[in-house]
Amino acid sequence: MKAAAAVRVFRDADAAAQAAAAEWNAALADGTADRPRRVLLSGGSTPQTLYRALADARTVPRERWESIECFFGDERCVPPDHPDSNFGMVYKSLLEPLSDSAPRTHRMRAEDPDADGAARDYENLMRRQFAVPVPDVPRFDLALLGIGVDGHTASLFPGGAELDDPSRLVAAIRRPSDGSSRLTVTYALLNAARRVLFLVCGAEKAEVVSQLLCHPLPGASGAKNVRPLPPAARVRPESGEIVWILDSAAARLLE
Ligand code: 6PG
Repeated sequence: MKAAAAVRVFRDADAAAQAAAAEWNAALADGTADRPRRVLLSGGSTPQTLYRALADARTVPRERWESIECFFGDERCVPPDHPDSNFGMVYKSLLEPLSDSAPRTHRMRAEDPDADGAARDYENLMRRQFAVPVPDVPRFDLALLGIGVDGHTASLFPGGAELDDPSRLVAAIRRPSDGSSRLTVTYALLNAARRVLFLVCGAEKAEVVSQLLCHPLPGASGAKNVRPLPPAARVRPESGEIVWILDSAAARLLE
């Protein structure tokens, strides 16, 4: 039986980021340098406030970063110094401010013209770092995710490749709306996580949040005229928890 999702609503994006920082500490506090806690970082704009809060030693003691290992949930196929780069955003908001205390962070080499090769390389790196061979799936201690207004998460888009292959952890995809190339983790990897944290803020997300949290899954008993649910609805960790941290604007339509 999958754990129910915990939904917590905060007055604004700053308060939501502070709550997300507390979830971060709860999930990643007890690692060691030899046995680090591992986190999958989200891109986009929402998590920047969280990353800046985490860079503050009053939120995460500087010495803790040596026991945390960071990976990326997705990346745009651009160089790391491109304004659209998720790594570039994390570098500016978290890694650069942490300077010598910055955690081990594995960048997706999404600028590689061979996107499929870069996806496989990242998957192999993940398996090496976790010491988890095929067909087992690495279990992240925390997967930080955002949601797009279309219900995508990471770079798993509506109408995108199904990425149902349980053996694939990272894939190269094209965003259906504009054909842009990205690397993304798959549902198989996300659903192995111990804890998934959706951090969602802003009035523009209220509709998709309501759709995800208030509407029955397709085929649920008694469900009538159910629209196909957005990709984020397929993130249902097998034996992990889901925590939603919302600001009041994104939670506006929740019953
Ligand atoms: C990305 C993210 C993506 C993001 C959502 C929400 O690379 O863009 O991984 O899944 O979380 O698009 O983005 P915002 O936080 O900017 O609304």
